[in-house]
Amino acid sequence: MKTSSIKKITWVIIAGTGLLLAGILNGCVESQKVAAKSGVQLWAENCQRCHNTPSPNSFSHDQWITIGMHMQTRAQLTEKEKEKIVAFLTQ
Ligand code: HEC
Repeated sequence: MKTSSIKKITWVIIAGTGLLLAGILNGCVESQKVAAKSGVQLWAENCQRCHNTPSPNSFSHDQWITIGMHMQTRAQLTEKEKEKIVAFLTQ
């Protein structure tokens, strides 16, 4: 009885570690994908979810910086993603 429950626990630990590792590896793949995306891609994918995609020349450089901060919270973007989008919009 004792040995079998130890075996069970061992299996749970092994399975848990496996799942955890899979999650970590998957997370890396995911963040590489995001890292590989350009500002224009991120802009096209994120900024039209709630409204029409605003074109780069519709606002001034300073306005884009403020809008970037505002929309980062709305679109739940990371700092890096926001920087890329604002860089594209203000180029
Ligand atoms: C989750 C929904 C959502 C996403 C995603 C989103 N926006 Fe918005 N956006 C809004 C709403 C709502 C408003 C109007 C109200 C406000 O200003 O908060 C708005 C307003 C704007 C305006 C008008 C100026 C202003 O600040 O009010 C601009 C420009 C803009 N968004 C740009 C963007 C860009 C660029 C992105 C991509 C990074 C983006 N939005 C992503 C919801 C969103």
